[in-house]
Order: sequence, then structure tokens, then C-alpha cells
Amino acid sequence: MHPSLLLLLLSLLILLPFSAASPPPFQRYPLPSARRSTIPPQTQIEVTRPLPFDALTPACTLPLFNHTFAHTSGLPPSAANYSAPLNCTWSNAVLHFSAAANGTQVDRIAAVWLAGAELLRTSTPESTPDGVSWSFTKDVTRFSALLSRKNLSLSVMLENTVDEFYTGAFDVNITFLFYNIKNSSIHNRRSLNSSPRKIIRNQRRQSAAINASLELDQIPADLIIPVSAAGEEGYWFKIQTGNDAVYQGIQIPNNTYRAVIEVFVSAHGDDEFWYTNPPDFYIESNGLNITLGHGVYREVLVTLDDNVVGSVLPFPVIYTGGINPLFWDPIVAIGAFNLPSYEIELTPFLGILLDDKKHYFGFGVADAISFWLVDANLHLWLDDGPVKVQAGPIKYKNPNNCVERESSFAQLNGKFETEGERKTEFSGWVYSSAGNLTTSVTTKLEFENEINYKSNGTIVKVEHEVKVKKQIQISLPSSGTVASFSVESKYPLELKTTSVAGSGPDNYLVSTELEVSYQEEKKIDHFQSKLTNKQECSGWMFVHGEDVLSGAGATSQTYTVKDSLGCYSRKVSADEGAVVSDNENFLCSAGVVSGSSA
Ligand SMILES: *[C@@H]1O[C@H](CO)[C@@H](O)[C@H](O)[C@H]1NC(C)=O
Ligand SMILES: *[C@@H]1O[C@H](CO)[C@@H](O)[C@H](O)[C@H]1NC(C)=O
Ligand SMILES: *[C@@H]1O[C@H](CO)[C@@H](O)[C@H](O)[C@H]1NC(C)=O
Ligand SMILES: *[C@@H]1O[C@H](CO)[C@@H](O)[C@H](O)[C@H]1NC(C)=O
Ligand SMILES: *[C@@H]1O[C@H](CO)[C@@H](O)[C@H](O)[C@H]1NC(C)=O
Ligand SMILES: *[C@@H]1O[C@H](CO)[C@@H](O)[C@H](O)[C@H]1NC(C)=O
Ligand SMILES: *[C@@H]1O[C@H](CO)[C@@H](O)[C@H](O)[C@H]1NC(C)=O
Ligand SMILES: *[C@@H]1O[C@H](CO)[C@@H](O)[C@H](O)[C@H]1NC(C)=O
Ligand SMILES: *[C@@H]1O[C@H](CO)[C@@H](O)[C@H](O)[C@H]1NC(C)=O
Ligand SMILES: *[C@@H]1O[C@H](CO)[C@@H](O)[C@H](O)[C@H]1NC(C)=O
Ligand SMILES: *[C@@H]1O[C@H](CO)[C@@H](O)[C@H](O)[C@H]1NC(C)=O
Ligand SMILES: *[C@@H]1O[C@H](CO)[C@@H](O)[C@H](O)[C@H]1NC(C)=O
Repeated sequence: MHPSLLLLLLSLLILLPFSAASPPPFQRYPLPSARRSTIPPQTQIEVTRPLPFDALTPACTLPLFNHTFAHTSGLPPSAANYSAPLNCTWSNAVLHFSAAANGTQVDRIAAVWLAGAELLRTSTPESTPDGVSWSFTKDVTRFSALLSRKNLSLSVMLENTVDEFYTGAFDVNITFLFYNIKNSSIHNRRSLNSSPRKIIRNQRRQSAAINASLELDQIPADLIIPVSAAGEEGYWFKIQTGNDAVYQGIQIPNNTYRAVIEVFVSAHGDDEFWYTNPPDFYIESNGLNITLGHGVYREVLVTLDDNVVGSVLPFPVIYTGGINPLFWDPIVAIGAFNLPSYEIELTPFLGILLDDKKHYFGFGVADAISFWLVDANLHLWLDDGPVKVQAGPIKYKNPNNCVERESSFAQLNGKFETEGERKTEFSGWVYSSAGNLTTSVTTKLEFENEINYKSNGTIVKVEHEVKVKKQIQISLPSSGTVASFSVESKYPLELKTTSVAGSGPDNYLVSTELEVSYQEEKKIDHFQSKLTNKQECSGWMFVHGEDVLSGAGATSQTYTVKDSLGCYSRKVSADEGAVVSDNENFLCSAGVVSGSSA
């Protein structure tokens, strides 16, 4: 098996205690200085915009969950009872996740569910004997319908292994913070009323139907139904092959006038770096003994009664053991603490769903190898007016996706190109108290991937890019389009790795450059927003097996956003395990983004 292939695809563990001593013994390789011995308990951060209410005093605080995840492998999730805070008027809710580890440990995946609905998918930093700690917040206002209920089960899954080598146990605290922003300056932008139940229904129904495509946090759903597994092994479905299909039968209330499915996905095992996986024929023809493969195309399919109603080309979240673990100390990769979820508007399908019968919501991951964790939440908005909600289809156009592959290789050197596209167009009408509104959703997903292996596979270059274009239009037969929403996002990733075999077996010196970003532009009627979040990393490491014995990593990140809440930008650089510069700015500058926020 060739070292370079192996190295790209493993989740590595930092073992820096052995580090600084001597630089790796390779003469013909240009070496940066060896990393200084580590600084005690590091605070890891995911760079993102602070929540608009972080600066406000919460109306109430609900510490709910304290647990130490030691050897939890094979155990069911850990649970706590949730009830909405008493005597608290709130409009927005935040989940505060705070955690620490105290010994050597690899990165782990974790999730938080409330009554089986996933609130958060997160991954942990790797830990050294010095320990790590981290905390972050997530806006969970979109789950208001659940958060205002009593006696629900909050479950947290974090499968961890503790033995004589992996000594780190994770201490996790979860606290819910409730804010009442009625009186704050945020209010006029985010015009949510206090308890979702108390909102003037008519007004809300109108704006929710018309603003169908507004973010879920702005007009939270009335009902959330999880599309998730039974729970003993976590509420996520585990998908191990491209043929695995998982389902759940759900009957939705017959007064539903809007439906959105929010999908959570994460890739693990042999598919953790699916976008770098070589095709099987390359592996076979070179006699490589590796379990990963199957090329780079993966698409998470969402089905309704076996019809594909949407799909996700996931953002490549890199866990902290990924690619070069020294990149992610202390700045973790984009999405590592708060993995993105993906929303698919299902309102055009209400014509199928509103028949007082059970329908089957399912997932699959095209071309998957082991394994993917997938589940979803169905967000439903209900009409409590006197009319009987009715709905019907207008257009369901879902041509099969097409994936094209080109390859040329000679032994370990070669070039593999993969391209794919899926275009869908769905529309349907819903007659409710808001009138007879037609919702049209068009989606175009595209991806491009190119892998180059050179110098007998010791130089690997991966270029991967996903582009997503979605447009939602709401129209009334009489007055034409009454609202429109569009979002365009793209997430390119570029990775270049050069490896040199060391003197001993399983010893390699690897140098890596990585660029990954998430870019998004949204238009909601006359509102515009633009987000760019980009990381650039470079470094090297001396690896034995799966352990990083020494190395260095530098990461710089630029996050800029401009939207109806204002502007925010942050530029952070970290080198050899420490932040070396950090500039934050709340002012809008003409140079940062274009477009206006009305
Ligand atoms: C968490 O621990 C603190 C201090 O030990 C305690 O005050 C709090 O009630 C605990 N919370 C839960 C939900 O157990
Ligand atoms: C939740 O409450 C039920 C009964 O109200 C109790 O039996 C159960 O032990 C509680 N669970 C936790 C994790 O506290
Ligand atoms: C909630 O408010 C009611 C009425 O104002 C009061 O009777 C009750 O004691 C309060 N409960 C708590 C837990 O503060
Ligand atoms: C969790 O909460 C307990 C009690 O408040 C506190 O002692 C501990 O330091 C917290 N741990 C983390 C990781 O925040
Ligand atoms: C980590 O914490 C757990 C639980 O508090 C404890 O049992 C374990 O001994 C600690 N490990 C180390 C390496 O300190
Ligand atoms: C809470 O839920 C549990 C089980 O789901 C049930 O046994 C218990 O009676 C409930 N408690 C209240 C106060 O509703
Ligand atoms: C909000 O404003 C109203 C009227 O301006 C006032 O009566 C109320 O006390 C304020 N509430 C809070 C929580 O500040
Ligand atoms: C969308 O919702 C906002 C807030 O609820 C409202 O002010 C706005 O008028 C709505 N837009 C349309 C087109 O109704
Ligand atoms: C809607 O569902 C409710 C409760 O499930 C049922 O009582 C009612 O008859 C249904 N309405 C129609 C029009 O089917
Ligand atoms: C392939 O690798 C596995 C695990 O590394 C090893 O157990 C197995 O013997 C290898 N097979 C061959 C044919 O080399
Ligand atoms: C709603 O409008 C569609 C056409 O856009 C029409 O086919 C349907 O019959 C209307 N439904 C009702 C209940 O008026
Ligand atoms: C590539 O590998 C082959 C077979 O292992 C070897 O003969 C050749 O010299 C290598 N080429 C380079 C450029 O390392």
C-alpha cells in the first residue's frame, strides 16, 4: 500500500508529547521549525458570527445536562428530562454547549436530540494529556414548538472509548438560554413574538405562508416531527452502503400549510474524506489493500414514498483529526462544532401528504461506503383558522441526476475527474387561511471533483467544489408572485499533499496545503445577504501509523457576513497551536461585501 493514499484518508491522532525533541530525520525535504511543546489546556474555537442575542441578558437560563462521557462505546445516549422554563416569556432560544476533556483522545461525533428531533450535530476536538476545553452556542429558536413543551427527553450521544492509551473522558454541560427580544433592537428585524403560542395567529399565518422561505428561526414551525431512528444507538440512521435505505412512516396533521425537512448528515469511517476517495478500479489495478474507495460522488437523497424529493451534497466538515490535526488547534474546521443542516422545502408535496394517511420519509446516500449518520426534522406550520386546508400538485419534475466520470492512470499516477448535476422543479398549491398560494421550488445542485496523483502517488491534489442554487416563489393566482427567495451557495475545497516515506515501516513525512470555504448569497424579496467563510491551512507532520509524532500547522480564517442584522467580519490566524492574530469588526465596509441590506 502506498503511504500517500493511506495518509490522506485516516483520521490522525496528535501525539505531541514526543514532539519538539528532534525534527524529523529527512534531509532532502525542506522543513519548517518543529512545533514548540504544547501549551496547557487549550480552548478550541470555531470561528463564526456571534449570535445577535449573545450580548443580551437571557430572560431565563435552564442548565439541563451534565455528563461525563468516559467509556460510552456501545451504550445508548445519555438522557435528561426537559421542560420549558416556568414563568418565562421568551421569543428566542439558544443552546449553550460547554465541554472539556482531560487526557489523550481522538475526535468523536456527538449529537443532541429533544424528543428524537436533532437540535445539534457536533464533533469533539482531539485531546492531549494536557486536556482541551471548548464551548459554543447555537440558535435553536426554530425548535420553539418543542422547547415550549414539558417533560420531553433530551438525549446526548457521544460514543467514546477509554482504555490505557485513550484516557480522555469528555465532560459535557448543556444549558438552554431563553431571550425575550421583543424590546430589544433586534426585534424590528426578527419580528417574532414571545411564546410562539401567543402570537397573533392570523398575522403570523399570513407572513409565514408568504415568507415561506424565510429562515426557520424567524417564524418557527408549529410542530416538529423527527424522522429518526429508534434511539438505543442514537436517533440517527446509520447508512453503510449505497443500497441502504431507511424510512419512517409519518402522518402529518391535515391542517399543515407549510412543510420543510431539515436534514443532518455526517460522514465517517471509510467515507470521512469521501471527496478524496479513489475509484475502485484504481485501487484494484494497483493492488492496494485499503477499504475506502468508490470514488468521490456522494449524494444524500431524501425520499417521500420512494420518490426523490430532494437531495444534499454535503459540505466537507473536517473533524479535528482530519488531514493534518495540527491545522485544527485551536481553530477547528468550518462546521466542526456546529455541523450544517440542510433544508428542503416540501410545501409543493402537501397535495400528497394531506390525506390523513401515513407517508414514508426516507434517506439514502448514493455510492456510500461505511458509514454515514443521517436523520432529519420535519418542520410543519399549522393553520388553526376555519378553512379546511387543501393542496394539490402542479409540477413534479425530477430528472435523474447525471454523473460523468473521466479517468486516465498508469500505475499509481493518474487523473480522475467526476462531475454531477441534479436539477429539480417542484410546485404545488395550498389553499389555507392565507389564500390559495402556489409554491414553486427550483433547485440545481452541481459538483466537480478532480484528483491528481503524481510521483507514484506521493503527490496528491484534490479539487472539489459544490454549487447549490435554490429558488422559491410564492404566487397568488390573482396577483402573480408575492414573494421570492433565492440562495446560491458554493463550497470549494483544495487539498495538496506531498509525502515521503521514512526510514521505519509506517513512517512518513507529509506536507499539506488546504483551502476550504463556504460562500452563500441570499435574496429575500429586497433583502440581500452575503456570507464568506474561508480557511487556508499549511503544515507538515511526521507520522507513524495513525499517530502524528511531530509537525506544525498554520491556519488563517476569514469570516465576513452582511445581512439584515448588519455586518460582521473576523480574521484570525493561528500558528503552531496558538492564535497569532485576531481582528473582529462589526462595521460594514464597502470593500467587504457588495449589495445592500435594505
Ligand atoms: C450540573 O452541575 C451543577 C453543579 O454541580 C448543578 O448545580 C446543576 O444542577 C447540574 N445540572 C444538572 C442538569 O444536573
Ligand atoms: C425523567 O423523568 C422520569 C419520570 O418523570 C424519571 O423516571 C426519569 O428517571 C427521568 N430521567 C432522567 C434522565 O432524569
Ligand atoms: C409563576 O407565576 C405564578 C403566577 O404569577 C405564581 O403563582 C407561581 O408561583 C410562579 N411559579 C414559579 C415557579 O415562579
Ligand atoms: C460543567 O458544569 C459543572 C457544574 O457547573 C462545572 O463544574 C464544570 O466545570 C462544567 N464543565 C464544563 C466542561 O463546562
Ligand atoms: C478524566 O476524568 C474522568 C472523570 O472525571 C476520570 O475518571 C479520569 O480519571 C480522568 N482522566 C485523566 C487522565 O485525568
Ligand atoms: C413524563 O413522561 C414520562 C414518560 O414519558 C411519564 O411516565 C411521566 O408521567 C411524565 N410526567 C409528567 C409530569 O407528565
Ligand atoms: C418592554 O416594553 C414594554 C413597553 O415599552 C414594557 O412595559 C415592558 O416592561 C418591557 N419588557 C421588558 C422585558 O423590558
Ligand atoms: C415577511 O415577514 C416579515 C416579518 O414577519 C414581514 O414584515 C414582511 O412584510 C413579510 N413579507 C411579505 C412579502 O409578506
Ligand atoms: C383532520 O384531522 C382531524 C384529526 O385528526 C380530524 O378530526 C378531521 O376530521 C380531519 N379533517 C379532515 C377535513 O379530514
Ligand atoms: C490488508 O490489510 C489488513 C489490515 O491492515 C490486513 O489485516 C490484511 O492482512 C491485509 N491483506 C493483504 C492481502 O495484505
Ligand atoms: C388553487 O389554485 C389552483 C391553481 O393554481 C387550482 O387548481 C385549485 O383548484 C385551487 N384550489 C382551491 C381550493 O381553490
Ligand atoms: C515508482 O514506483 C516504481 C515501482 O515501485 C519504481 O520502479 C519507480 O522508480 C518509482 N518512480 C518514482 C519516480 O519514484
